[in-house]
Amino acid sequence: MDDFAALNRTIERVVGIKTSNYKEDYIRRRVLSRMRISGNESFADYHKYLLSEADEKDLLRNALTINVTEFLRDPEVFSLVRQQVLPEILKKKTRIRIWCAGCATGEEAYTYAMLARDLSFTHEIDCTIYATDIDRKVLEKAREGVYDARALKNLNERQIQRHFTRTEDGKYEAKPELKSLIRFSHHDLMTNIPAARFLDLVSCRNVTIYFNEKQKTDLVRMIHGSLGMGGYYVMGKTEYLGREVEDLFAPFDPIQKIFIKK
Ligand SMILES: C[S@@+](CC[C@H](N)C(=O)[O-])C[C@H]1O[C@@H](n2cnc3c(N)ncnc32)[C@H](O)[C@@H]1O
Repeated sequence: MDDFAALNRTIERVVGIKTSNYKEDYIRRRVLSRMRISGNESFADYHKYLLSEADEKDLLRNALTINVTEFLRDPEVFSLVRQQVLPEILKKKTRIRIWCAGCATGEEAYTYAMLARDLSFTHEIDCTIYATDIDRKVLEKAREGVYDARALKNLNERQIQRHFTRTEDGKYEAKPELKSLIRFSHHDLMTNIPAARFLDLVSCRNVTIYFNEKQKTDLVRMIHGSLGMGGYYVMGKTEYLGREVEDLFAPFDPIQKIFIKK
């Protein structure tokens, strides 16, 4: 076994990320980046370093699960969800269940919670959002629901006033009525077991870009299985269904990457 393969086995064991499910080139680039930062020149050196430095496991996990996210990421997608998707679901029922899979630090889950709160002025709605991620560190931050002003750049003043309170140190905390809609929990999408079933909407955005083709297909099948009949699947703008599984869904808006379970 070469040094990179040996390092991968150790990563799977001590970092808890199944590297073989990701594109090899992606893992290699992330590892090389950590090697540069930590001053290790070879995979063998970095392997020893990873085993001896307690903090490096977390640092590598962060590097491998890039947690970039934002409120209302791709605003046109969320306009469509607010104006068409959620009202369509509400024609048939008042109880809406959403799974935000790969929620990172929570901005996407709070975005759905804001949409649901806003709709409650005109519709009867009882919404639960299951928000999951493989990275426990980001989930801690998501549960806190405290963001600095920069993170709120996509929100207007009315949205900030309605959904956040200013903290003493000048940050913004999601109001309790927003937090109460969301259940954050740890979940690995590669286990192929959904976090919930009979869902009305699954939002799994900008997660599969690091997955290999088989993992992507398995994930789409798993999401299909987690949705109730006619449930919605919201993907990232650069993601695609894949030929093997595209027949499982009908397009709702293929440009905004919203599909309906067949
Ligand atoms: C780029 S962020 C996307 C966040 C959000 N969905 C968005 O679109 O803004 C990708 C997230 O997917 C999570 N992730 C990566 N692999 C995962 C897996 N196997 N299971 C669950 N979450 C995973 C990462 O930890 C990270 O928080």
